[in-house]
Amino acid sequence: MNILDETFTLNTGAPIPKVGFGTWQIPNGEQAYDSTVAALKNGYRHIDTALVYGNEESVGKAIRDSGIARNELFVTTKLPAEIKDATKVLEAFETSMERLGLEYVDLYLIHAPWPWTEIGADYRKENGEVWAEMEAIYNSGRAKAIGVSNFVVSDLKALFETAQVVPAVNQIRYFIGHTQEATVALSTEKGILVEAYSPLATGALLENEQIAAIAEKYGKSVAQISLRFVLQNGLLPLPKSTNETRIKQNADLDFEISADDMDYLNSLELSI
Ligand code: A2P
Repeated sequence: MNILDETFTLNTGAPIPKVGFGTWQIPNGEQAYDSTVAALKNGYRHIDTALVYGNEESVGKAIRDSGIARNELFVTTKLPAEIKDATKVLEAFETSMERLGLEYVDLYLIHAPWPWTEIGADYRKENGEVWAEMEAIYNSGRAKAIGVSNFVVSDLKALFETAQVVPAVNQIRYFIGHTQEATVALSTEKGILVEAYSPLATGALLENEQIAAIAEKYGKSVAQISLRFVLQNGLLPLPKSTNETRIKQNADLDFEISADDMDYLNSLELSI
């Protein structure tokens, strides 16, 4: 079976395609539209966007124009990290829904535990309040699952203290040499699926000679090894590309990295 047809199961019981198409840094307009069309045409059924990517309009249009039944697609968007005032959550969600032109999303995430201008700041109390609003959206049925992004152990533990609904997903920056073991372990223990954004380190892995040597051994590209590595560690990769050949290549992952090579890749420490 093609990897694009395989699914993980969320703690809501819903299936989620094992590889998603990431759209971070793809500008709204033709580029986001054409890339999303190319992804859908080549079998991707899971699309990841966010309000702050600014491209929900084009991504949504590509989804709607595809003619693919809505229930065969999995669409994620995100609440901006800057929104820590619970009274502003619903409004941001409505903006995303309007831009996407969809009736519901499959997953709605808190984009980060802190505003990007204050990385690491303590917003635990606010995140609890924001989460209650996310739960209300979930209970309304307009987000079929809710989750978080960029949450580390302390953020997750704080959230668990007041959450009624356990997040379905934690989407984190994850690639060979940057594997956030403690966050992954706690998420997995709590039944939270971990998604890997920037699985190619936004391209920085592509020139790595150690990964290139492994790639050569398997007759695969560095990108394919990097994505297969994520999957074999039990995470869901969200590769991004604007090029159709690479979009296809990133879903051609039906091979197996040996246990020894996984150990080696898991031991790599890269300065990225
Ligand atoms: P492009 O969009 O021109 O294909 P990440 O998924 O970690 O964010 O990495 C995305 C970066 O990697 C983009 O610059 C993208 O460029 C590039 N990229 C994506 N897939 C491949 C691939 N299969 N081979 C080479 N570069 C790739």
